[in-house]
Amino acid sequence: MKPPLNVCVVGVGAVGIEILRVLKERRFPIRALKVLARSARPLSLDGESLRVEAISPEAFQGQDLVLFAGTEGEKGAAVTYAREAIRRGALVIDNGADFRMDPKVPLVIPEINPEDAKRHEGMIANPNCSTIQMVMALAPVHRRFKIRRVIVSTYQAVSGAGSKAIEALEAQTEATVRKVALPPSDPLPQTIIQNVFPEIGSFQELGYTSEEWKMVRETQKILHDDQMAITATAVRVPVVSAHSESVYFEIEHPAALQDLKGLWRQTPGVKLVEEPSYPMPVEAVHRDEVFIGRVRQDPFIKNAFSCWVVSDNLRKGAALNAVQIAELFLTP
Ligand SMILES: NC(=O)c1ccc[n+]([C@@H]2O[C@H](COP(=O)([O-])OP(=O)(O)OC[C@H]3O[C@@H](n4cnc5c(N)ncnc54)[C@H](OP(=O)(O)O)[C@@H]3O)[C@@H](O)[C@H]2O)c1
Repeated sequence: MKPPLNVCVVGVGAVGIEILRVLKERRFPIRALKVLARSARPLSLDGESLRVEAISPEAFQGQDLVLFAGTEGEKGAAVTYAREAIRRGALVIDNGADFRMDPKVPLVIPEINPEDAKRHEGMIANPNCSTIQMVMALAPVHRRFKIRRVIVSTYQAVSGAGSKAIEALEAQTEATVRKVALPPSDPLPQTIIQNVFPEIGSFQELGYTSEEWKMVRETQKILHDDQMAITATAVRVPVVSAHSESVYFEIEHPAALQDLKGLWRQTPGVKLVEEPSYPMPVEAVHRDEVFIGRVRQDPFIKNAFSCWVVSDNLRKGAALNAVQIAELFLTP
């Protein structure tokens, strides 16, 4: 695509707002910016006034790039409108889960599988937030030492469930301080204040949730390895933004702890946090990197390691990755 581009952002929730910020921060070459949501209204963002327009098929006319960050599913923005945008000539990048496993839709992390993006038929999918940060950590290790087994437990921030979930945590925090009855948790399935719960998405086969299956299937697709045996437990914690993950992995070829650390020190987009420090959501929020710390060799199993991976789910887990995908297509 020859810049500057006509760029359209669909959705002004947790991810859509962050996309608008990232586009501006990275000076993405925009000729005209269009912002769409379910209803038209003014939007004030970081001191700037923007106009949100109501979505319609005609709104995609003349757009070069459309970044979808609307809700998912049958009536979700991308399901209803992505084909329309593609038909009118736009490249679509979708943040939702609806098309990620479609064989015709590349699932891309630009630092890891940028070559897949070239095979698109109008749409490229952004992986799930918890998948992106785990794969950013695992991909360089897999390339060098071949990972055969992964066991991951996540500690996921509420912003991963959208802006309404952030409001629910804030309202329950305030009610707790004021010692009044807790307001509803909707869209979260349980009380979130003073709580953690192992339910993200819907329950599916073998008792795993949809979020847990996303981490399995999306990782296999991005790494082109459907033999990698991945088991995930996805847990919601009362943190506003930045997901944490405890990741255990077994490799086929022998490696020392220093080999892994050396790899991560050289990996673009990754920052190794050296002991005695370790990454935490409060320090990762609003940052672009995937932070890795607490790297340990298993005391009992040869060739097995553990690490702690933290990243802002709205930045590298969503908005930043989406804009980086778009940047792959900028030709001077
Ligand atoms: N939050 C994360 O960490 C994260 C990470 C990776 C991927 N994602 C995915 O990114 C997408 C957006 O998530 P979010 O967290 O930003 O959700 P959100 O905070 O709930 O915001 C959703 C936005 O989408 C708009 N929208 C919903 N249905 C629409 C439709 N049919 N047409 C046009 N606009 C529509 C809403 O419009 P109104 O404002 O007019 O209601 C709202 O602005 C989801 O698919 C989500 O799964 C989220």
